[in-house]
Amino acid sequence: MSQQATKEIIKLNINGVDEEVAVGPYDTLSKVLRDDLGMTGTKRGCDYGGCGCCTVILNGRSIYSCMMPARKAAGGKVRTIEGLEQDGKLHPVQDAYIRNFAFQCGYCTPGFIMSSVDLLESNKNPTEMDVREGIAGNLCRCTGYIKIIEAILDAAKATEK
Ligand code: FES
Ligand code: FES
Repeated sequence: MSQQATKEIIKLNINGVDEEVAVGPYDTLSKVLRDDLGMTGTKRGCDYGGCGCCTVILNGRSIYSCMMPARKAAGGKVRTIEGLEQDGKLHPVQDAYIRNFAFQCGYCTPGFIMSSVDLLESNKNPTEMDVREGIAGNLCRCTGYIKIIEAILDAAKATEK
């Protein structure tokens, strides 16, 4: 049976917007975001759960979207890098990455930022070790991790109340 014949319509709320999309049984959330909805801010790296480029937040937790069957995410709330900026203002984590020069090619950056947002939403005052653990599932092949860690600690400070 062709995949076309087995497509099923699922609903997803993406960055606050309700979407309906036809997905095949083997479609992953990253495929749906990028290829079906044109949201290419979420990157595809290894496609097997090894690099974190594809990290998004699903129902409040950061996940590898390349490892999430789209049908399993049905009905869920997805946040991607495209949804962080609000009213033309970057998210404090995005700002901190820029201030701290925390990227070079930028390919890994959306995934790192989504992991950072998840970390800071669950721990507003992380230690350096918390930050290291929070981004342990993300790989960067060119910046090195020190600037990224500094950016996340800086973002935590900037949002301290
Ligand atoms: S593309 Fe998903 S973990 Fe590498
Ligand atoms: S900034 Fe290039 S891979 Fe991380």
